[in-house]
Amino acid sequence: DAHFPRNAEGHLLIGGVSAVHLALQFGTPLIAYDEGLIRDTIRAFHRVFQEERVPYQISYASKAFCTMAICQLVHEEGLGIDVVSGGELYTALAAGVPASKLHLHGNNKTPEELEYAIESGIGAVIVDNFDEIDLLAELTAKAGRPVDVLVRVAPGVEAHTHDYISTGQQDSKFGFDLASHQVQEAFARLKGVETVRVIGIHAHIGSQIFDVNGFQLLAERMAAVYEQGLRDFELPFSVLNLGGGFGIQYTDEEAPPVADLLRGVIRAAKAAFAARGMAVPTLWIEPGRSIVGPAGVTLYRVGTRKIIPGVRNYVAIDGGMTDNPRLALYGAKYHATLANRLPDVPHRPWSVAGKCCESGDMLIWDLPLADPEPGDLLAVFATGAYTYAMASHYNRIPKPAVVFCRDGEAKLVVRRETWADVARLDEPLREPGP
Ligand code: LLP
Repeated sequence: DAHFPRNAEGHLLIGGVSAVHLALQFGTPLIAYDEGLIRDTIRAFHRVFQEERVPYQISYASKAFCTMAICQLVHEEGLGIDVVSGGELYTALAAGVPASKLHLHGNNKTPEELEYAIESGIGAVIVDNFDEIDLLAELTAKAGRPVDVLVRVAPGVEAHTHDYISTGQQDSKFGFDLASHQVQEAFARLKGVETVRVIGIHAHIGSQIFDVNGFQLLAERMAAVYEQGLRDFELPFSVLNLGGGFGIQYTDEEAPPVADLLRGVIRAAKAAFAARGMAVPTLWIEPGRSIVGPAGVTLYRVGTRKIIPGVRNYVAIDGGMTDNPRLALYGAKYHATLANRLPDVPHRPWSVAGKCCESGDMLIWDLPLADPEPGDLLAVFATGAYTYAMASHYNRIPKPAVVFCRDGEAKLVVRRETWADVARLDEPLREPGP
């Protein structure tokens, strides 16, 4: 992988830090980010918007990886942050990000979460359904604080991706259905709520998308809705949010550079508004995976092997579905390499297994890999998004540590959990004793 070269000893380098040293200092499994790569990606996004000369806002979809350090980093780079829960909101605020830079998503925000957002002075709430309109009206009146909202549209656009991460189709739990005119009904109801200012509309069609076609169709539909809201409902619109979803390269599949897709999305929006004789409003995107995914590498220690003659070769590492459930959930594919030595030419495939007590606990099936030895380090690439964020304590396995690496220096940003951490909230039935 071009982002992760090797040093003279054959160690993989992440942000200029040797994987061998990282594993010694911080232990394994370890999620190591190339901090420079995250910053470069964000700067490339800014550049595309500036070249295309449109008013814009980029929000980082923190669900992909939400910790205080990443919130601070993306804030430093000029991004807003999307949060989808009280916990993500808490993390961003605790990191010192101003509430005005945060936006709350979710199809079932609890009253506590909405209150917390309103009291904090959140930048915007993306309102998802009619019950939430009622709740927002009640809670903003009670708090005596108005709130800006975007209306989430379910646009009926299918993105070509995994069903579980495709969100724009009509049959979805998210947003107001466009086909049955729920969006217009929402505009009408929101107009009657004095403490809510409707600043625009939002849609998100899915995740891990490479194809601009879905975004083109989306832009056309959203431009029509935008014009209606502005003209027919006289709402104070200034924002069109087209969501996130830009795909990244996991293995050797064809993956166009993410900046190209973004440019295509921006041009589609420009064209859709131009066709209506309108200037494009503030274009807002909310990428998660494309910002942090490629920059993350998970380092595991190789433990045991099992060779089943004529069937398969298993190599087991010291993590698995607890720190990366994406194969188990989505059948996700990953690429990996030995990180502690220059790997020999692979002469047989190895399947990378986790240490959990179930057969579905796999990270990679049939990967061409130099024969691994116990004690080797295995680096799995492109694990920066939706891994730590979805980590679990299955089998009471502690969550890994996370480090940011840059210019040869590593900074711990999430401490490794201990066995005691895993049992921290347990209330024993009686005093444990002999
Ligand atoms: N905006 C909204 C409203 C979303 O629902 C999402 C992702 C994003 C933005 C960011 O999408 P991204 O740029 O990261 O593709 N756990 C799954 C992905 C779930 C995505 C959920 N929504 C996975 O591991 O693939």
